Parts: sequence; C-alpha cells; structure tokens
Amino acid sequence: MNIGSQSIILKWFQIEGSQTLQIGQKLTFGAYFMGLKEEIAKRRTFGIISHPDAGKTTLTEKLLLFGGAIQVAGAVKSNKIKRHATSDFMEIERQRGISVATSVMAFEYRDRKINILDTPGHEDFAEDTFRTLTAVDSAIVVIDVAKGVERQTEKLVNVCRSRATPMIVFVNKLDREGKDAFTLLDEIEEKLNLPVIPLSWPVGMGQRFQGVYDIYGKRLVLFRAHGKQDEESAVMIEDLSSSELEKQIGESAAEELRSEMEIINEVYPSFERNAYQDGTYSPVFFGSAVNNFGVKELLDCFVEIAPPPVARETEERVVEPDEKDFTGFVFKIHANMDPKHRDRIAFLRVCSGIFERNTNYQHIRLGRKLKFSNPTAFMAAKKSIIDASYPGDIIGLYDSGNFKIGDTLTEGEILHYKGIPSFSPEQFRFVNNVDPMKSKQLAKGLDQLMDEGVAQLFIKEDNGRKIVGTVGALQFEVIKYRLKNEYGASCDYEPVGLHKACWLGSDNAEAIKEISKKRKKDLARDKDGKLVFLAESAWTLKMAQENFPEIDFHFTSEF
Ligand code: G4P
Repeated sequence: MNIGSQSIILKWFQIEGSQTLQIGQKLTFGAYFMGLKEEIAKRRTFGIISHPDAGKTTLTEKLLLFGGAIQVAGAVKSNKIKRHATSDFMEIERQRGISVATSVMAFEYRDRKINILDTPGHEDFAEDTFRTLTAVDSAIVVIDVAKGVERQTEKLVNVCRSRATPMIVFVNKLDREGKDAFTLLDEIEEKLNLPVIPLSWPVGMGQRFQGVYDIYGKRLVLFRAHGKQDEESAVMIEDLSSSELEKQIGESAAEELRSEMEIINEVYPSFERNAYQDGTYSPVFFGSAVNNFGVKELLDCFVEIAPPPVARETEERVVEPDEKDFTGFVFKIHANMDPKHRDRIAFLRVCSGIFERNTNYQHIRLGRKLKFSNPTAFMAAKKSIIDASYPGDIIGLYDSGNFKIGDTLTEGEILHYKGIPSFSPEQFRFVNNVDPMKSKQLAKGLDQLMDEGVAQLFIKEDNGRKIVGTVGALQFEVIKYRLKNEYGASCDYEPVGLHKACWLGSDNAEAIKEISKKRKKDLARDKDGKLVFLAESAWTLKMAQENFPEIDFHFTSEF
C-alpha cells in the first residue's frame, strides 16, 4: 500500500476483524496506522517443538479445541512419518497431504489471533523445522515427563536460542509416572542450557496425579482423566495456608505442595514478562495433553505473555512490523500433490505493513513485480482467499516456479530477510540420470525439489557431477519417488564418501583463488553458486582449515 499523501483511498480494507471499510472510503494515515498497530498487537505466531512422541500433535489439537478451530478430538492427524515408513511411499504422500493442511493453523482466542506453525516431527526433516522456526515469534517446547530432555529437543532449542526466540516449556504426560518435577527442571537447565521458572506445579504424578497449582493464575486446578477441563475443576486458592487445600487434595499432598512452593519461591525469581521475552528464562507448565489437562492454563498465560510480531533483520536493515510498507519472506514451499498441476504453494510470513490481494509486489531476487489474485489464509483449519494480511500472518501464495525458500517480497525497497540458512548436510550421494531421454526432466525436477528445500544439490567443480546432500536418509527415497511421479525422470544414486560440506568465505580474494586451484577436486558450487568444500573426513577438513588459514569454513550457508 503506497501512502504518498496524508490520506489513502482503499479498495478494501479490514480493521477489526468484522469491521470493513467500504470501497473508495478515505482513510487518514493516522487511522491506517492505528489499524495496523492494533492488528499487530493481536497476533501471536508460534511453533510447537518436541522430540517425536512427546505430545506435540496432541497439544496442538487441544489448543485448537480451546480455540474453537476444531470441534472434535482426532481432527488433527499426526504428520510424523513413522519409523517403519522409510520405504512406504504412500505413507510419505499421505503425510505430505496432511502437512499441507496443517502447515499453519490459525484461530482466535480471547481477542487474539493465534497462528500455530506446524513443524515436522521426523528427524530427517529437521531442516524444514529449522526453517519454519525462522517464521515464528515464539515457541512452545514439549517434554515427556518420563523421558525428560531428548536429543531432538536439544537441537531445536538450540535453533530457537540462536535466533533469540522466547520459549515456554510444557511438561507433558503427568498422568504417567515420570521424573520428579525439580529433577526435571534441573535437567532442562543443564541439558538445554535454558534457565527456567515454573508457572504451574504438579500435585502428584501418575496414579497419584491430582492436578496442577497454577502459580501464574494463583489457583488449584483439579485433574479429571479424559474429562473436558472446565472452570468447575478450578478451585481458587490464593492463600496456600488455607485449610481448603487439605479439603481438595488431602493432607499429605497439601503439605507437600506447600513445602514445594516454598522452595520455588526461594529458588526461582518472580516472573517478569520482559525476562521471558528477552530469553533470560523460560516459563514451565505441567499437564497432560491427551487428557486436556493444564492446556488451558498454558494457553491463557501464553496469550498474555507471548510476544506479538517483532522486528526482523534483513541484510540491509532492521524492519519494524508497524512500518507502513509491506514486506515478507518465503520460508516454506510445498509442491502440489497432483502431478498434473505443477503449481506449488509458497508460505510467506508477513513481516511489516499490510499484504493486499491483487497488488503488485517486488520479488527481490527476480527483480520484477508479481501480483497475487488468490492468496490463501489458513483460518480454523480451512483455507480461504484473503484480501489483506498483517504482520505475523502466514499466507499461502500459488506459485508456478517463481519462489525459492528465503525469497523476499516488498513494495519496492531492496531488502533480503536473513536467517534462512541451509545447514551442512550429513549424507551425500552422487545422482545419476538413468534415462538419457529424460535428462531435461531430471534437471528440472532436481532444481524444483531443491527450491522446496527437500535437499541440497552440489555440482563438483572438477567434473560437473551432481551430488545430493541431505540431513536424513529418507530424503533420498523421497527425491527418487517424486522425480519419477511428478517429473517422469529416473535417477539412481552412487555412494560418495563425504563427511561434511562447508561453505567457504574469505576477505582475501587471493586465498579463494588459491584454494580453487589447489583443491579443485574437493570443491563444488551450491544452488546459488556459492563455493563449497566437500570434506572426505574430519581429518581432511581440519587439514584444509590449517592449510588455508585465511579462509573461513562455515557449517551453514548464511554467515
Ligand atoms: P508427537 O506429535 O510429539 O510425535 O506426539 P503425539 O502427540 O503424536 O503423541 C505421542 C503419543 O503420546 C500418542 O500415543 C499420544 O496419545 C500420547 N500422549 C500425548 N499426550 C499424552 C498424555 O498427556 N498422557 C499420555 N499418557 N499419553 C499422551 P500413541 O499411542 O503413539 O498414539 P495414539 O494411538 O494415542 O494416537
């Protein structure tokens, strides 16, 4: 929206959800600005992360139930690819279908617009999860009370921390026996390096689980297995020394809760929203997602404390969400399931201003204007065409091949959003064309799958051979299957003994020239033409680093 003068004439514009201004209506810049600010303040865009099986899907579903986005449990299918599915392509396709539908789930709750971004649970798709986390303003980390902190939790928390994304921890499955709550908090602090502060506290666990004391809301919430948690199960107890506590949970549990709360008050600082938002500590909640328990406390607190859309960095400058000009970036691309329709959906996060339908926006990488006639929003698990979207919103743009992950759209200013790196892959294979008649299809298919971020392609400097690098083994199967089904191309793989791919950077052009000459056989170019060192082993990498001290070896493409 271009606001050259003090007033603008609107084609169509929504301020407060239902309040619509009419075509041709005049709006002062002040009113426009206030509308934008209000919309930003309403939005909460976050992702739920966990090790597979901790309860991410279940928690997502319960949050949607509270938000009225779905009516019955079971409506959100797990999008995790089960371990046995490695060679089950129908399963992969089914999961792809589900993951389009559940990529973004938006609903309204207590006058807030909540956008939940789904993250794949399967480790082999970790890179997709990392990229999705670039589009959130905060995260909820789910931990299984019995298993505690697991490997995937550590990786994902590190990604959030590196981007200073505030996190709330939800300890799940309190209806089962698990680790003692204090032990678990220590484990979270140590293993995740995440200072915590409990905002709810469990009363018992497993068979003896009676409920949680909601420290934030100062009330006791009693547990009813599989019951719909409602206000009746909440008992207000502001003063824990009240004998009401004994009446509700019995003498020994009351005594235990009082002494635990004393320890909590001594050990942990009192909660401050700023300290959570700047990452000083993470609030912790306890509950049982499958029993719908502790979830409402989490959601009620979340809408109050979680950050609205925040400023974002581009290579050029920091962009504030309430700037009048629209900007946004693509963090995910999803191919159409139907091979007859080659179009894809690019998921764009709105970062500033208002995105409007049928308006020309500048595609920075392509250097040309694009217009979108049917941008899609994902409200209440349904897709619908939208006319305007605000910072924090995610929109789906139908794309016939214009977008790559990381692309920026603006109203004209040259900006490049940062923080969507490619990570050094862990598995590598040469890719060979099996059908010489279909080499064009293979090249196109590979190119488009790489744009989607399924894997990374490296082209060797010495002989032009193509190497596919992935985070997990499953992607090789996915690529082969999709090349055949969507592009009619056949490929096979050949093993290549590689340890890591590192992006090379240096201030010294001579040093780059030197390594390019001396180590040509170990070098390749990535999809953007960046120079990459393919290390056969940790040893060769170390030697190369020593031999070329003026060159930096990076493990992500963005440095
Ligand atoms: P994920 O997305 O993090 O991978 O986990 P998901 O929600 O799919 O949950 C994994 C399993 O844990 C599911 O059981 C789910 O029902 C169970 N679960 C989730 N929350 C709780 C809880 O609070 N208490 C208990 N006891 N279990 C919980 P499943 O047998 O793998 O699947 P399903 O057959 O129940 O769907």
